[in-house]
Amino acid sequence: MARARFHSLAVAEVRPLTSASVEVTFAVPEELHGDYDYLPGQHVALRAHVAGKELRRSYSLCRPPVPGRISIAIKRDLGGAFSTWATSELRAGDRIDVMSPQGTFTLPAERTAGRHIVGIAAGSGITPLMALAGGILAGSPSSRFTLVYTNRTAIDVMFLEELADLKDRYPARLALHHVLSREQRSAPLLSGRIDEDRLRRMLDTLIPPDSVDEWFLCGPFELVQLCRDVLEEFGVERSRIHFELFTTGEPTEPRGDIGRPVVVHKGERTAQIDFTLDGLSSTVTTPVDANESVLNAALRVRPDVPFACTGGVCGTCRARLVSGDVRMTENYALEPEELERGYVLTCQSHPLTDRVVVDYDV
Ligand SMILES: Cc1cc2nc3c(=O)[nH]c(=O)nc-3n(C[C@H](O)[C@H](O)[C@H](O)COP(=O)(O)OP(=O)(O)OC[C@H]3O[C@@H](n4cnc5c(N)ncnc54)[C@H](O)[C@@H]3O)c2cc1C
Ligand code: FES
Repeated sequence: MARARFHSLAVAEVRPLTSASVEVTFAVPEELHGDYDYLPGQHVALRAHVAGKELRRSYSLCRPPVPGRISIAIKRDLGGAFSTWATSELRAGDRIDVMSPQGTFTLPAERTAGRHIVGIAAGSGITPLMALAGGILAGSPSSRFTLVYTNRTAIDVMFLEELADLKDRYPARLALHHVLSREQRSAPLLSGRIDEDRLRRMLDTLIPPDSVDEWFLCGPFELVQLCRDVLEEFGVERSRIHFELFTTGEPTEPRGDIGRPVVVHKGERTAQIDFTLDGLSSTVTTPVDANESVLNAALRVRPDVPFACTGGVCGTCRARLVSGDVRMTENYALEPEELERGYVLTCQSHPLTDRVVVDYDV
């Protein structure tokens, strides 16, 4: 798989979804079709200058793949710099840097036939599940999909019409349950917050876990954690529970240590970081006492090193540790198999040995 990189894409359409969210569609020119091939569930990073500051944020692709177009949905986060700008300022015809898709919140086609897949989403967490549900139901006629989608009220529901259309298209294979936390629905089980008690009752009655092959969770940290814990108590193997976090629930400033000015003074004990990016090898040293991330150090010599969230959630800064050792502060993005294969998040990795070698190209 080629390394993800930015290209400038034109906004083809901005479509309001709710009062606080928009769907943004980008036109992908023919020569870039290969770069923007993706699997449902993957995401792209956007890069824009907002109020004079470069911001990078990740957004999940919200539709099954079609050549020539990619779509994301952005929900305004109260006080959020990028989402406030994008939901109010972005217009058709604007150009913006979009990284090619990446991410492992996906399901290979061979694991969809005859399977029952369940998605649990909250708020903007619906975006990757729109792509997954649509893609799996269309691509695998023997699959079934159950989608539990929770919002505060009915007017907060993103893709309300598209979800209803999907249900009309696959009435027997799609089960759709809207849960509203601040509005009464006719079914008491679907009215109120999804807490442990409600989740257990849903699993006892609506979605018995032994009828399910794969679980996809996307929403706030607390909801995803609750679902993982309760599903494991119900005996669901970890390998069948996939999850995507948009944030860790922690305040987002400061965002990692990107841009932290680190200077190497003469005579100071340093670690050497060697890295390969686009076939080119580079070297940088970092003062051991600075506890700098591999990414921050690498950016000093190569501004094109990939990153987006700098918080250990998006996986954009992934590289393979070839030699040496690092300590990873957080990891919300890498799967256990990726860790076993030696992948690290360079935004979270701090050298533990005098020399560390990482490869961004594999
Ligand atoms: C893999 C991935 C996929 C994603 N997909 C989507 C998607 O499909 N749709 C979507 O809408 N979002 C998605 N996100 C989230 C998205 O990337 C952004 O994080 C989100 O839009 C908020 O960005 P922002 O710049 O508007 O907010 P930020 O400016 O980053 O702020 C985020 C929140 O923190 C608060 N905050 C800011 N500064 C501070 C501070 N100093 N102290 C306390 N609180 C503070 C803000 O008020 C706001 O509520 C995804 C994230 C990831 C990692
Ligand atoms: S930049 Fe997002 S995980 Fe490192």
